[in-house]
Amino acid sequence: MGNILDVRDMVPKERHSKIFESFKNLRPGEFFVLVNDHEPKPLLYQFQSEHDGEFDWWPLEQGPEAWRVAIARREEANPNRTVTEYLESDHRRLDDIFSRFQDSVKARRWEDALNDFKEFNLGLRRHIKVEEEILFPLFEEKTGMIDSGPTFVMKMEHTEIKGLLDKILENTAAQDDSKVSNASYGLLNILGDHNMKEEHILYPESDSFLSESERIHVIKKSQAA
Ligand SMILES: [Fe+2]
Ligand SMILES: [Fe+2]
Repeated sequence: MGNILDVRDMVPKERHSKIFESFKNLRPGEFFVLVNDHEPKPLLYQFQSEHDGEFDWWPLEQGPEAWRVAIARREEANPNRTVTEYLESDHRRLDDIFSRFQDSVKARRWEDALNDFKEFNLGLRRHIKVEEEILFPLFEEKTGMIDSGPTFVMKMEHTEIKGLLDKILENTAAQDDSKVSNASYGLLNILGDHNMKEEHILYPESDSFLSESERIHVIKKSQAA
């Protein structure tokens, strides 16, 4: 777990310098969790212009009372990122949150389980939204494959995945272990296969037909989603 930087009680003009100082102190692969009282979009744009390719930005909670985002220092700073690397690292990050959730369920720590799952739910829905609204339309436009191509199949699977997310959330709130584990089994089953198809086919193909500047555009837009 990363350190928490809660800037809600700080004077607004001191916030940004404190945040950039925390980022400067991160070692490669480390992250901290920023807690703020509004959506920190201007901060993201400042990171994109001053620390291009050096950071990852993963929202964990998006209002209405608190906004939390994990800000990570990437292992290797490189502004020329690929879509494969970016979205694959989000898959791995979500896998980690889900296994933390399952540990909480196993230990019957229901409050932790619910918080873990909310983080996972937000992260995966956001990931799906980025794929469907930013990446897939580009893929369809470049390949001409719309109704019969891989994005069509992925979108059907997304619908199934979202149904399971609702089920797990509902059953976690109701503290029903057996229904949670059934739905979790179903989710991992479909997600494992789904992610593999994206990582081996759809993402690398997207990288191959997007130009360097288009790839960077996709990633920056996705971070702001
Ligand atoms: Fe997907
Ligand atoms: Fe994905």
